[in-house]
Amino acid sequence: MRRWWLVAGRGLLALWLAVPAAFAAEVSPQQHPAGAAIASAHALATEAGLDAIRAGGNAFDAAVATSAMLSVVEPISSGIGGGGFFLLHDAKANRDVFIDARETAPESTTPDVYLDKDGALDPDRAENGPWSAGIPGLPAALVHLAAKYGKLPLKTTLAPAIRVAREGFPIYERLAVGYASRSKVMERYRGTREVFLADGDAPKVGETLKQPDLARTLELLAERGFDGFYRGEVAKKLLAGVKQEGGKWRADELAGYRVREREPLRLKYRDWDITTSPPPSSGGVALAQILQILSGWDLQKLDAPQRTHLVVEAMRRAYRDRTIYLGDPDFVEVPLVRLTSRDYAAGLRASIHPDKATPSALLSGQPAPLEDEETTHFSIIDAEGNRVAATQTVNLLYGSGMIAPGTGVLLNDEMDDFALKPGTPNAFGVMGFEANAPKPGKRMLSSMTPSFIESPDKAIVLGAPGGSRIITQVLLGILAFDAGMDPQAVVALPRYHHQWFPDAISAEPGALDAATVQALQAMGHTVNAGEPTWGNLQTVQWDKRTNTLSGGSDPRKPGGRADVLLKAVLPAPSP
Ligand code: DON
Repeated sequence: MRRWWLVAGRGLLALWLAVPAAFAAEVSPQQHPAGAAIASAHALATEAGLDAIRAGGNAFDAAVATSAMLSVVEPISSGIGGGGFFLLHDAKANRDVFIDARETAPESTTPDVYLDKDGALDPDRAENGPWSAGIPGLPAALVHLAAKYGKLPLKTTLAPAIRVAREGFPIYERLAVGYASRSKVMERYRGTREVFLADGDAPKVGETLKQPDLARTLELLAERGFDGFYRGEVAKKLLAGVKQEGGKWRADELAGYRVREREPLRLKYRDWDITTSPPPSSGGVALAQILQILSGWDLQKLDAPQRTHLVVEAMRRAYRDRTIYLGDPDFVEVPLVRLTSRDYAAGLRASIHPDKATPSALLSGQPAPLEDEETTHFSIIDAEGNRVAATQTVNLLYGSGMIAPGTGVLLNDEMDDFALKPGTPNAFGVMGFEANAPKPGKRMLSSMTPSFIESPDKAIVLGAPGGSRIITQVLLGILAFDAGMDPQAVVALPRYHHQWFPDAISAEPGALDAATVQALQAMGHTVNAGEPTWGNLQTVQWDKRTNTLSGGSDPRKPGGRADVLLKAVLPAPSP
């Protein structure tokens, strides 16, 4: 039996696993990585992915296992009651594909549902309970990944998640603190009380959270595939649960849910070929705009104030366009060619004053403040050269707060990502207009930006949670890789962000030194330096030249416990 050594850390957030030497010798180092690497936000999820690879699976099997485990151990961030995006590189077919498992709006969605009697947006409807939930997409994604891209049956890849759902896992700080902040809403719902108050009181750090109904639901998914969730026993309970709490879902909406395979968005930035998320994510379009604007300068030759000013001005312009033009491409015509064209970027670049901030109010549009930092991302590379970048979410902390009784499925509150009332900010302060108006069957606009970047020397997988700050995390990650930083340094790098409105740069401690802040202020920027940290970037890198794998797992661990969030390395077993 193989033995694996834990070299660093007590968790397994990001780790890389070398294949046996005999196999490594057979393959050309330039074509195949010498092992597999996974980075995720929870040690158990990374381990579940590795189990799939050890069992003979590929990166796509590992993605199924990691995703399902995150749904069990990180219900605050994502789950099978939510959705996500999976960007895949299929090495054998030499093909990239974007699996869109975003939730869809139910038929009962009409604009007035989310307005109070005075016509104002009703945040309770938008963010809590059954009306806030879209039809889940994640279970369909797992089935699709396994059937079309994986080598292992769902029974194998879902087994670790089923076991941990049934036997439980230790509650960590972020879960307990997040629960306390959402408890009033969550405890409205019988199904949620049955899970989180099973021992009579609120979850506490160190206690074990068991989710037997979720284990059963995952088991049915493993046994019956799509029908195990979207038809039959689970579907009936989901429909009953939603109805009981006053919402409206129909059986045919569940049975009719489909993932979409979409062409990823591609662009070139300096030496890097970037493959990233198309609509209904806004991330790829924004990245394309920002990087193409920035390609007019050699950023590394500029001093910090000048570089930051230009990056911020590019962010400001891309986020303005996000608010106005982006939505579900199955429902609205997104002017993709224009927004991602080099010429359009050149026009935006020309509008940037080299040493003066452009007030956001001078660009057309309305205010769009900040999002929070839940959701979760994982990155995988395997020894065949397959890659997965996956970001999945239930939206706000613990989604809608509502578990449909008997299912263990915590429903998302993704409806709030629509522009439920045009021009009115949502929970995160982000707003939109017609392009992102809710319609039955439509997918709500997202900022999730799972991405690949590749140069002649390196292939890198990255992504992050953080609402509208996802896009700028991925952007700063790409710029840091371009500057030659290693993966762990990239994820640890202090961040800054600008999203058009509020018209201010938000910066983590250490992101901008005092002189840079002063210089930016002199250019007319408002700088909110020293804000609480955000994000949770997870990345893996294959260095094709040295044929080594490495990873980076965000050290910020917002509210988390160090032993759950430490990075670890597993080297190859000794011969
Ligand atoms: O899809 C989106 O952009 C959001 N629902 C992601 C939410 C998120 O990252 C949660 N935290 N802020």
